[in-house]
Amino acid sequence: MKFTGTQDYVATDDLTIAVNAAVTLERPLLVKGEPGTGKTELARQVASGLGLRMIEWNIKSTTKAQQGLYEYDAVSRLRDSQLGEERVHDVANYIRKGKLWEAFEAGEKVVLLIDEIDKA
Ligand SMILES: Nc1ncnc2c1ncn2[C@@H]1O[C@H](COP(=O)(O)OP(=O)(O)O)[C@@H](O)[C@H]1O
Ligand SMILES: [Mg+2]
Repeated sequence: MKFTGTQDYVATDDLTIAVNAAVTLERPLLVKGEPGTGKTELARQVASGLGLRMIEWNIKSTTKAQQGLYEYDAVSRLRDSQLGEERVHDVANYIRKGKLWEAFEAGEKVVLLIDEIDKA
């Protein structure tokens, strides 16, 4: 499993080495740079180049790290309790999985893009 850049994506040697180190070590890679320098596109190219599924988590100024794991939907649960729904007794019915959870749970290797992390 080796990333080399593609026909549509020019990757420098340094970038290729960094990407392959991250893939091999299964560690995150933090990519910094000016807008339009190909950071988002890199994740797409790595995924398509290695034939892996990509999970995309777009960060907004209001995003919290916790949301990557899961969110608890208290409003739905309150509504169900008022309607006397049986499902209200199981908290699992109100856990909304986040992108990190999805990535950890995936049976195969995936590329997780945490995009614009500096906005948080
Ligand atoms: N290394 C590259 N090789 C080919 N095209 C690139 C490269 N870097 C950027 N581009 C082009 O620039 C566009 C913007 O890149 P993008 O990944 O959205 O930038 P960023 O996420 O860093 O702001 C991409 O759609 C792509 O067409
Ligand atoms: Mg981008």
